Amino acid sequence: MRIMITGATSGIGKALTVAYAGAGHQVIACGRSADKLDELKQESSHIDSLCFDLTDFDNYPNLASEQTGLDLLIFNAGDCEYIDDALNFDAKRFERVININLISVAYGLQAWLKHLKPGGRLVLVSSSARLLPLPRAEAYGASKAALSYLGRTLAIDLEKHQLAVTTVHPGFVDTPLTERNTFTMPMIVSSEQAAAKIIQGLDKGLDEISFPSVFIFFMKCLRCLPFSWWRKIAKRIV
Ligand SMILES: NC(=O)c1ccc[n+]([C@@H]2O[C@H](COP(=O)([O-])OP(=O)(O)OC[C@H]3O[C@@H](n4cnc5c(N)ncnc54)[C@H](OP(=O)(O)O)[C@@H]3O)[C@@H](O)[C@H]2O)c1
Repeated sequence: MRIMITGATSGIGKALTVAYAGAGHQVIACGRSADKLDELKQESSHIDSLCFDLTDFDNYPNLASEQTGLDLLIFNAGDCEYIDDALNFDAKRFERVININLISVAYGLQAWLKHLKPGGRLVLVSSSARLLPLPRAEAYGASKAALSYLGRTLAIDLEKHQLAVTTVHPGFVDTPLTERNTFTMPMIVSSEQAAAKIIQGLDKGLDEISFPSVFIFFMKCLRCLPFSWWRKIAKRIV
């Protein structure tokens, strides 16, 4: 397969890149850091790279002919910044998170979707955070809830073009993104475990991939509570 992965220089994206290249697939790894991409290319001759900022649409590179005809297009890049003081709302911080987690996906769709082959699959890496309003997650949660909605609508609209869509909802994964968290992260898994779950789900052609299953089960149970109850619980976990 020919696979494009954004956010390939770190965490889940890097683990997916290494796993797919290791299995003999051609991977186009996208990232912002030329050094990290060069390091990644040392891992396998099956890894090609594109270095650019996903939030800067004017500087999206044109694909070489050997980079088109994609089987899998994985929008994984993302970031998390918390809204620490909701009263003094930081709109710039909100904008930064929405830009990388949501708007850059729209840019990517405009730029690359035409390069996905009929029978190919688009993958959006969202988050289990879309399930529940979490403290300080105004920006991150809103971006991921919107991304999951986008994934489901695209699944309806792209089916007639023989394109499938999978939305991924990980729980906590041990990556540079979560290293910044100062709270306990229940049932956290490694990037390699996350990548294995995603690959397994994609191999099965699943519309949605959510893991770890016990964590997702608890999140879904909590989501069934009246919001007034959840608000009281959420306040206690800040
Ligand atoms: N870790 C978790 O617990 C968790 C849980 C649920 C969902 N997710 C989602 O999984 C995805 C991957 O997260 P991760 O934990 O693997 O994070 P990570 O280790 O911080 O990796 C994020 C990747 O996105 C890239 N990126 C960020 N901003 C970019 C930009 N403007 N242009 C191009 N690339 C950019 C980063 O590149 P640089 O190295 O250049 O910064 C990096 O390669 C994210 O969408 C995240 O929201 C993660």
